[in-house]
Amino acid sequence: MSERERVSLAIEPELLSRFDQVIERSGGNRSEAVRDLIRNRLIEEEWVSSASGDTVATVTLVYDHGKRDLADRLLDVGHDHHDAVLATLHVHLDHETCLEVIALRGKPEQLRAIADSLMGMKGVKHGKVVTSSTAP
Ligand code: NI
Repeated sequence: MSERERVSLAIEPELLSRFDQVIERSGGNRSEAVRDLIRNRLIEEEWVSSASGDTVATVTLVYDHGKRDLADRLLDVGHDHHDAVLATLHVHLDHETCLEVIALRGKPEQLRAIADSLMGMKGVKHGKVVTSSTAP
């Protein structure tokens, strides 16, 4: 195990209790959960600040299959940014609902702009971007 520092934190009891419930469900422990939060935050910061070099991101979208023009517009964005789109996964969740996951690689500003335009489309029920880095 690498060297570790012990730290104490001041947290509201109610907030800590809710956090502990999440940790219990996932079978982890408090220290590892806090380390994960810190790592995730550092990756986000690095992603935003790394203006040079490629970064990767996935955009997850849930939308109504009945909105045919939305599917067309999503395809248009893919073609407009074909240099950044690595792959697209489409899942028909049920008769009405589609799930789409788009993997992107490129400059952070470009990926952020693509993600924002996808998630901001009218008819998208839920959108989330996950940014990542190949740095250790
Ligand atoms: Ni579908």
